[in-house]
Amino acid sequence: MATTRRDLLKLGAGAAASLAMPGYALGQQGGLISRPIPTTGHEVPIIGIGTARRYDVGPDEAERAPLREVLGAYSQLGGTVIDTAPSYGSAEEVCGDIVRELGNRDELFIATKVSLRGRSGRDAGIAQIQESMRRFGTEYIELMQIHNLNDWRTQLELLREWKDEGRLGNIGITTSFDRQYADFESVMREPGLDTIQVDYAIDNRGAEDRILPLAAERGLAVLVNLPFSRGRTFERVGPRPLPDWAAEYGIESWAQYFLKWVVSHPAVTVAIPGTAKLEYLIDNLGAARGAMPDQAARRRMVSYFESL
Ligand SMILES: NC(=O)c1ccc[n+]([C@@H]2O[C@H](COP(=O)([O-])OP(=O)(O)OC[C@H]3O[C@@H](n4cnc5c(N)ncnc54)[C@H](OP(=O)(O)O)[C@@H]3O)[C@@H](O)[C@H]2O)c1
Repeated sequence: MATTRRDLLKLGAGAAASLAMPGYALGQQGGLISRPIPTTGHEVPIIGIGTARRYDVGPDEAERAPLREVLGAYSQLGGTVIDTAPSYGSAEEVCGDIVRELGNRDELFIATKVSLRGRSGRDAGIAQIQESMRRFGTEYIELMQIHNLNDWRTQLELLREWKDEGRLGNIGITTSFDRQYADFESVMREPGLDTIQVDYAIDNRGAEDRILPLAAERGLAVLVNLPFSRGRTFERVGPRPLPDWAAEYGIESWAQYFLKWVVSHPAVTVAIPGTAKLEYLIDNLGAARGAMPDQAARRRMVSYFESL
């Protein structure tokens, strides 16, 4: 672990794109656990990167450099899943710029969204998807998700067509609102979907009542957003040390405790924690390696967390 961190910090300080750096060799050995999207067989590592808020930056190099370090190191360590959206301020554009600078587009699994809050219609959807493709310099996007079910009937029809034409690899829907869960469940029963994205964290377990079992039943891959409840899980544990038994599951930090808890739910495919610092990246990727908690251990993790 110490070697990995030191090498990665070196990698970050230099050009993250340089495959000659020591981090690359480590990445090849890193062996991130991955899982297939059941409907299409596309394989993804169980830890991705979320880009809401922290990737909404301007053209200033001082703001972009740390993000380039994170995305470059993530890719070099075998990571592929970057979740973004045209509605995250400049985040999608920033990700697109960085990916073009790194020259690693072909190695990535870009997950973005058709995100039409307050707007609707096929033309609006097409214009937004074309703009997302332009930003990534691509004519194909691995995963296009309907953000918060906005205009879902029209957009789902469009996404199905574009997937059939080979312009989209997978299509899905997202939410992070309990009040949408009932509608979300009914859209999950529509034909043609490959993925769902839902909020799920050790302190926010509502998705496990009906959404996660339904995803398993329908053969849909699950991306988990807000796996740290936007940082609230860390606030709850504060500076406390981990319980000794966490080591049995290869857990070395609270971030790994929360993420391993999420990704060890049998219906979950990949968690996408908001990750904008190299230190966090290294830490979070630790949750994609080693032993995983079983169902009894997951219950123990919840009880312990709730006792704090
Ligand atoms: N409906 C939707 O489609 C929807 C809704 C919400 C989110 N999302 C997606 O889900 C992603 C994740 O959500 P999120 O970023 O809002 O919340 P999150 O992943 O639950 O939490 C992010 C927070 O965790 C902190 N963090 C990350 N790694 C850490 C580590 N190793 N140690 C300590 N702190 C750590 C970050 O700190 P700093 O503040 O210091 O960076 C950040 O504040 C989003 O970026 C977005 O891509 C989608």
